[in-house]
Amino acid sequence: MRVASRVQARLFGVLGDPVDHSLSPAMQNAAFAATGLPHLYLRYRVPAAALEEAFAEARRLGMGGLNLTVPLKEAALPLCDAITPAARRIGAVNTVVVRGQRLLGDNTDAGGFLRGLAGRVRLRGTHAVLIGAGGSARAVGTALVDAGCARLTVANRTPERGETLAGLLSALGCPDARAVPLGALTNRDVLADAVLVVNTTSLGLRGGAVDVRAAATPPGCLFVDLVYGARTPFLAAASRARRPTLDGMPMLLHQGALAFEAWTGRRAPVPAMARALGSVVLTQPRTPRSVRARRPPRP
Ligand SMILES: NC(=O)c1ccc[n+]([C@@H]2O[C@H](COP(=O)([O-])OP(=O)(O)OC[C@H]3O[C@@H](n4cnc5c(N)ncnc54)[C@H](OP(=O)(O)O)[C@@H]3O)[C@@H](O)[C@H]2O)c1
Repeated sequence: MRVASRVQARLFGVLGDPVDHSLSPAMQNAAFAATGLPHLYLRYRVPAAALEEAFAEARRLGMGGLNLTVPLKEAALPLCDAITPAARRIGAVNTVVVRGQRLLGDNTDAGGFLRGLAGRVRLRGTHAVLIGAGGSARAVGTALVDAGCARLTVANRTPERGETLAGLLSALGCPDARAVPLGALTNRDVLADAVLVVNTTSLGLRGGAVDVRAAATPPGCLFVDLVYGARTPFLAAASRARRPTLDGMPMLLHQGALAFEAWTGRRAPVPAMARALGSVVLTQPRTPRSVRARRPPRP
C-alpha cells in the first residue's frame, strides 16, 4: 500500500437484491488500497421499494458513491438529482456519484463491455446478435451501436421486450436492428454473418442453456456471456463448436474501473483490481472454472 493520503475516508457500496454474490467489494477495496485511498466499499441488500430511502441515507451519511445491480438500475433513474448522457441513452444507472447532497446517475456498463472486448472483434459495419432484452442488454446494445455495428439482432424470451429493445437501438442510430424469437437462434440464416453473439440473460447463473447453433457462425465469431466466474452451458457449447469465448469478468472489471474513476478522479489501478477478482474467484468454493478468451484466428 502507498503512503496514507490526507483524503477523508468515505463509504462506498453496491446496492441490490440479491447482492451477496457481488465481487465489487473485493475489487473496489483493492483499488482503494492500491491508490492509498482510505475508503471502504460494502454490500447492501436493498429491494426496489427501499431505494429512495437508501439514497436519502447515502446523502445523510455523506457516502462517496454507489453501484447498483439487479433490480435497481432502472428504478434509480427518477431518483437521481442528475443523469449523465450515457445513463440517459441507456435508460439505466449502475453508478452513482455523490457530490454533497446531489446524486449523479451514470452508466459504466456500456463502456465496460467495450473495454472488456479489448479489440478481440472488429465491430464497425458488422452484424452482432444479442440474447436477452433486460437492463444489461440495453447497455450492451447501446455500446454496439456506438461502436458502429451495422446490424443488430435481438433474441428474447418475451417477444415484446425484444421488439422494444430493437426499436430503441434503431432510434439510437443502428441502421438495421430487428427482433427475432429465441427459437430463431437455431436458424443458420440468423447467425451466418455474425461476428459477435452476446448472452445477456441470467440463465447461465443457474446452469440454464440457450439453444444456439454456434457452428452456423463464421469461425472467428466471438461468444460472450455476461455471467462471470462460471463456465456456462452457452460458452461450453460455443467452445465445442471451436468458437472463441469470453465470460463476464472483463466487463465487470472495466465497468468497475470506470466507476472508480468517476468517484475519485484518479486513474483506476486495473491490474490490482483484476488480481483481486482473480483471487476471489479462485477462493470461492465450488465455483466452476471461468472460460478463457481465445483470439480469433488470423485471416
Ligand atoms: N459482467 C458484468 O459486469 C455484468 C453487468 C451487468 C449484468 N450482468 C449479468 O447479466 C445478467 C442479466 O442482467 P440484467 O440486469 O440484464 O437482468 P434483467 O434486466 O432482469 O434481464 C434478464 C434477461 O434474461 C432473460 N431471461 C431470464 N430468465 C430467462 C429464461 N429462463 N429463459 C430465457 N430468458 C430468460 C429475460 O427475458 P424476458 O424479457 O423474457 O424476461 C431478460 O431478457 C445477470 O446474470 C447479471 O449478473 C453482468
